[in-house]
Amino acid sequence: MTRGWTKSEWRQKPRIQMPEYPDAARLAEVEAQLAQYPPLVFAGEVRALKAKLGAAARGEAFLLQGGDCAESFAEFNADSIRDTFKVLLQMAVVLTFGAKVPVVKVGRMAGQFAKPRSAPTETVGGQELPSYRGDIINGFDFTADARVPDPARMLQAYTQAAASLNLLRAFSTGGFADVHRVHAWTLGFTEGEKAERYRALSNRISDALDFMAAAGITGATNHEIRSVDFYTSHEALLLEYEEALCRVDSTSGLPVAGSGHMVWIGDRTRQPDGAHVEFARGVQNPVGLKCGPSLEVDDLKRLIERLNPENEAGRLTLIARFGAGKTGDHLPRLIRAVQEEGANVLWVCDPMHGNTIKSASGYKTRPFDLVLREVHEFFAIHNAEGTIPGGVHFEMTGKDVTECTGGVRAITDEDLSDRYHTACDPRLNASQSLELAFLVAEELSGRRDRMAAAV
Ligand code: PEP
Ligand code: CO
Repeated sequence: MTRGWTKSEWRQKPRIQMPEYPDAARLAEVEAQLAQYPPLVFAGEVRALKAKLGAAARGEAFLLQGGDCAESFAEFNADSIRDTFKVLLQMAVVLTFGAKVPVVKVGRMAGQFAKPRSAPTETVGGQELPSYRGDIINGFDFTADARVPDPARMLQAYTQAAASLNLLRAFSTGGFADVHRVHAWTLGFTEGEKAERYRALSNRISDALDFMAAAGITGATNHEIRSVDFYTSHEALLLEYEEALCRVDSTSGLPVAGSGHMVWIGDRTRQPDGAHVEFARGVQNPVGLKCGPSLEVDDLKRLIERLNPENEAGRLTLIARFGAGKTGDHLPRLIRAVQEEGANVLWVCDPMHGNTIKSASGYKTRPFDLVLREVHEFFAIHNAEGTIPGGVHFEMTGKDVTECTGGVRAITDEDLSDRYHTACDPRLNASQSLELAFLVAEELSGRRDRMAAAV
């Protein structure tokens, strides 16, 4: 047990980006209720994910983490979950082929509700109201009523997370995830005229699957072909919710965040002595840490010491999010700090959060080319430093939204208004997500060649 740690200790630390609930009695009731509910995930699963992330840190696996910026109550339905899951699986097949190692699949799903904001209030048409902080805290509508933090929203978030996980577990093992099916969907994409440049890779996957089927390895005969391990993750931002779902693992006697398999600390709430680091340091789950341009080497070293004092493999994932053109200014110094500490970490690239711009039409967007450029920079720098680029982290959806510009089905600034549905940051749509997977797969074949040459 992390000595001296309790799940409530964060309350003694400075907290930011969390709501002030006006109704303290109602808050206490909700916390008590949640504390009685079953956890959403179990310690054995959390340990299994940690082992897989440890393998990813050694280059023996690769992490694919993706999903909504903010899950919403209004958009909650089976189709949305299915569509995002489906694209993640398609991406995973393509990435597995490129990397020739297992792809660890982690959704930003079933708990990704609370959002840090750049300003505490927003002003529209001269009216100033508290910012929207995610459906688990307050409402998206621009009215004074909707913006009051309401503790009961935590119960709805829990219910939605439980139902989402239930469906994801069923999809993972019930035949939906059969690799032949998944690849057939991908063929639909690469057969399109514009996706021609991805067809050769897609055909090679088809050949590999045909060969396996001919050799008798099919979904009917083989569990691995028919099912997947799928994990959930979210930013552990709303600590009342996290504390209420924290449980002691009966096998090890250690505390586990029961709200999702992996939790991460955002770029705005990673103060080494702050509330969010305090909570995360005591739970056994794999923990992610967003690393943006303002992260100083000394702070990173302190954070590594606090979050992974035993230097355990798979415990700490560093999620680099600097912005295209800026990775070179920051990633090398942080990689070297990690090397100096001899720290065991998994390096992952989030090419979304440093590349958000305001389009000419006024929408917040992310150009596909900048997203891709940051991924290239991430791989190139790890290559130069002799370290391992171990995964990618995307904001994406299986829906055909128009939130990020570019891609083979080129979305323009003018198209953004067509289907701009996100409750927070702009997401890659299904086609853009899959296209990016093909491009990352090319990087991964390079990684494979380099690792083979280094042996
Ligand atoms: C996010 O992942 O949605 C997010 C807010 O990221 P960051 O903390 O890196 O800005
Ligand atoms: Co976001």
